[in-house]
Amino acid sequence: MRAKGAEMPGKDCVKVAVRVRPFNKRERDAGGRCIISMASSTITIQDPRNSQSPRSFCFDYAYWSHSGFTRDCSGLYIPEEPGGRYADQGSVFQDLGEGILENALQGYNATLLAYGQTGSGKSYSMVGYGPNKGLVPTLSDKLFQAIKANQDSRQCQVFFSMLEIYNEQVVDLLSRGSRSPGGLRVREEQQRGFYVEGLRRVPCDSAPQVEQLMEQGTRMRTTATTHMNANSSRSHMLIILQLKQIFSEESITKQSNINLVDLAGSERQRVSGSEADRLKEGTAINLSLTTLGNVISALADVAVGKKVVHIPYRDSVLTKLLQSALGGNSRTVMIAALSPADICYEESISTLRYAERAKRIQNRAVVNESPTERLVKELKAENARLLQRLSRLGQEGRRAEDETSRRWKEGGQRMKPWRWGAVFMLLLLCPEELRRLLTHNELQIRAIQTLWEQHLQEALKDWEQQYATITQERRMMQMHPYILNINEDTQLSGVVKLFIQEGEWDIGLSDSSPRSISIRGLGIQDRHAVFSNVQRRVYLTPLAGSNVIVNGTPISQKTELQHLDRLILGSNSTYLFIGYPSERGGDDWSRYDYDYFQSELAAAEGINLHSLCEEQTQGDSSAVPSQTDPSLLAVFYDYIKLMPMVAEANQMSQELHKGVEFKLEIKNLALSDSKGHDLEKEIAVRVTSLENKQVWLWSKAKFVNRKFLMEELYQQHHTERKGEGAARAPMPRDRDPFWDPLEPLLLGSAHLWLQSLAFRIALEEQLEVLGSEGTEEAILQAQLLPCSPTGLTLGEDDILIDPSELLGRRLDFQLVLDQCCGLRWVQQARNRGVQIGFRMFDSAQPLYTPAVWHNVNPLLDQRVHFTSLHTSQGLLEHLQTSALVLELWGLQEGCRDMVSSLEGVRMTPEGCFIIDQAGATETATTVDPGSELSCSLRALQQDVEELRNTNAALKTENNTLRDQLNTTKTGAEWGRGRSEMRGSSLRPSCDAEFARALKVFYHSMTSVRVQLQRLRRHRPSEESDLLGLRLFVDEQGGLLRDFSELLEQSVSSLKQDVAAIVRRKRERSGIWS
Ligand SMILES: Nc1ncnc2c1ncn2[C@@H]1O[C@H](COP(=O)(O)OP(=O)(O)OP(=O)(O)O)[C@@H](O)[C@H]1O
Ligand SMILES: [Mg+2]
Repeated sequence: MRAKGAEMPGKDCVKVAVRVRPFNKRERDAGGRCIISMASSTITIQDPRNSQSPRSFCFDYAYWSHSGFTRDCSGLYIPEEPGGRYADQGSVFQDLGEGILENALQGYNATLLAYGQTGSGKSYSMVGYGPNKGLVPTLSDKLFQAIKANQDSRQCQVFFSMLEIYNEQVVDLLSRGSRSPGGLRVREEQQRGFYVEGLRRVPCDSAPQVEQLMEQGTRMRTTATTHMNANSSRSHMLIILQLKQIFSEESITKQSNINLVDLAGSERQRVSGSEADRLKEGTAINLSLTTLGNVISALADVAVGKKVVHIPYRDSVLTKLLQSALGGNSRTVMIAALSPADICYEESISTLRYAERAKRIQNRAVVNESPTERLVKELKAENARLLQRLSRLGQEGRRAEDETSRRWKEGGQRMKPWRWGAVFMLLLLCPEELRRLLTHNELQIRAIQTLWEQHLQEALKDWEQQYATITQERRMMQMHPYILNINEDTQLSGVVKLFIQEGEWDIGLSDSSPRSISIRGLGIQDRHAVFSNVQRRVYLTPLAGSNVIVNGTPISQKTELQHLDRLILGSNSTYLFIGYPSERGGDDWSRYDYDYFQSELAAAEGINLHSLCEEQTQGDSSAVPSQTDPSLLAVFYDYIKLMPMVAEANQMSQELHKGVEFKLEIKNLALSDSKGHDLEKEIAVRVTSLENKQVWLWSKAKFVNRKFLMEELYQQHHTERKGEGAARAPMPRDRDPFWDPLEPLLLGSAHLWLQSLAFRIALEEQLEVLGSEGTEEAILQAQLLPCSPTGLTLGEDDILIDPSELLGRRLDFQLVLDQCCGLRWVQQARNRGVQIGFRMFDSAQPLYTPAVWHNVNPLLDQRVHFTSLHTSQGLLEHLQTSALVLELWGLQEGCRDMVSSLEGVRMTPEGCFIIDQAGATETATTVDPGSELSCSLRALQQDVEELRNTNAALKTENNTLRDQLNTTKTGAEWGRGRSEMRGSSLRPSCDAEFARALKVFYHSMTSVRVQLQRLRRHRPSEESDLLGLRLFVDEQGGLLRDFSELLEQSVSSLKQDVAAIVRRKRERSGIWS
């Protein structure tokens, strides 16, 4: 790359590298599969749900860091064998870092961006962990080595800055003063482009100095956020290394900016982009990442020759600051970080597509060199002119200002070159701007002239002070127990250490007493808890009203802490307790990461991977999680991920007096589709208004989006409370992230099996409506009645023995929904209502019963007639294998009813709903039902139908006659046979008996099915002790007994019936006579 990068004239394409990391613990535990493969610089990704369609991408570099590595004695990850395929930090630096360094030394601007989903390894590549140093520290190491090697020919100055962009606000991570409300301003200057005004630039002359500044910045990043758990997936981190090289002999200065950008997790962009949410557009939190995507897309279009009118650099802070890196004066490298696991497929493919676009971008990098002396002279001359103009303006007064603004309007847009031509500029600027320019120029002159050494001395003093603090902290760690912050982002974990020296220490928001440990976080009280360190034992006592969780369990009393105990304070401030050095041993603390804390908490609430797997394998204990459906794993991880967010949302709701409560729910845990297959489970958040019990159900994506908005609102609220900003008017309801208009809510569903229809047997059922988590929401009385085209219910004589007789014939039946009983939804609040929704076979639209309100046992009295004009094989199969899913929808006061739409729905002139369109396409009434043509068409259809029926009846009669001729020769038999073959069904009486027996059997099978479902749902509670487990086993035994009795009963009565029928048939045919 170095050679290529230096030689390329004119255009420089953005270089793109991809890197795939090893499995993380979660993925390993879950038996994740690697879906990424690499050959040279081509990377292939496999869709786990579709093995047929691997996608390949080609990039400048592809790094395999997934496998084939080992850890050496110093903790470095290196290839297992020399020359192995594993790409370690060193080889990544060789390709990417050295090129950037060389470019910078030549005077080019250089940018390195890390893109990828949260936890994909961006920070690992950029910053690194422990001895596995990333690109930034290695780059600074090599930079200072190069400076030393070249010190005879040039004087070099390095300035280090570090900033964070969070919610479109720029936070200086090296700032020593208090944080400015609203963040630092991004300004634009003709020559410099966009820059951050007032950003601290620290002069450095060694790599350890840079490393220490990075550490300082990371600590600031961890603690600077007002109340949230700091999280790099929410913000972008930007390190700027400015290198100034002064070649005294040539009187030339070369200046280059190296931007090193660790972007926020890319899923942020997808999350709120994909889901339809009322407030999708309102958030600024995603703006930078979305705009970056838009800029990259636009530039990629430019590169392939498409006409692009506008590149939206100005739409976000990040893109303003990266303008030169993208399509401008910079040599830019993007590293796209990937997880190898199947459950991350969607994110990984989206990262690869993003990277693919980025690689098309073309920049035009130039060496930034200027003659040092001339620059100072030019600035001085310009200042003289500015001063002259200012004094003249003073005399001319307002007239000049008017003139200025007029000319500004006329000619302003056309101005381009940075040093504008002094005369032209002087005419155009108003006094304030002249003064600002004057000051700016003076500062520039001073910056050029001030001795670099002087700056450096100041920075060194600062550095020494910081160093002393770090040494002091290390000493304390060897003397006292302490708590260590554990952050969702590994990079920010372990940055804060709070020491618990002997005696009592208050921990909380307040820092008023000398014996208090001050922390910030959601749900943290002024005085939250007390640590006491007595005789080398440490205790924690929660104070009234505060939330303290130790190892997953909330505590309310003084509790002794053990080394490596996990503490959660408030909603979600997570700390690891480190005991006295004598207790520590050589344990590996890294396993207690953020996920560990959350899994422990979920397990205490009864949610763990094993319980979910059982759910899926119906209690098969031999099933190991490694065989788990990835979607189930995804649900578990979503649960773990969302749990702390829900706790935070609840705290914010409480503090902002929003009166709503959030609760995680696993959707479809106990629900199945029309074939009885489990529905895909997903995480949802139930939102309940505390005042009037209104309920909403939010999807995961919607909740995550809303949570960002809530944070924004919460931060604003805090800023206003502290008096840092003007108080705003209360938020209108339609922009409030805590609020949503009411919508009908799916409460649960019941299955009405259709099998009996295939035999034209009527069915009457009491159905259990099950909620998402298996709770009984109501009992629904429903009937399926085979009927004639005019709606007359068929009798037992019409029962079919062989369902295939239906093929090609008209089938009519009615669904009757009589009553709903014991509605839990209405029991909980009387001002509610319900509707039942269902979709029969291939109906274009679901149908809904009219809303019934305020009644726990409402009469529905709903009868719908369905017709298949020509029963198809598809319908017949459906009847034999599927159920009609009857959905119970909950209505709340103020929400609109669900209305059946008749769009695309076909009906007979009598008002029957036509289903089975495949069978009806040839004949269904698509013409105007009133027209003459349609009348004759209908008559013809009826004729055809009748002919078909007669034909079928004749066929059956023929067959029967042939059979009887073969079996009996007597005239008496002949006569009896004929007398039994009357009417259209032409069924011998034993067939009718058989049909009746079948009917009884199907009815009893429905009860068997219900019992089976009950068994599937039955499992011991998580907290069960031995006694509880015994009880469970007893219950389970009882249920199994009932189940087998029912099954046996049904089968044996069917057997008896059949035996009786056979006996009677034989008696009649004279075999036993
Ligand atoms: N190439 C690698 N080799 C070994 N471990 C890695 C590698 N890449 C990442 N990891 C590990 O994966 C975890 C997540 O990586 P990292 O913190 O870099 O993710 P990230 O993309 O920066 O996430 P976030 O968006 O949350 O900041 C870390 O524990 C890190 O040590
Ligand atoms: Mg990171």
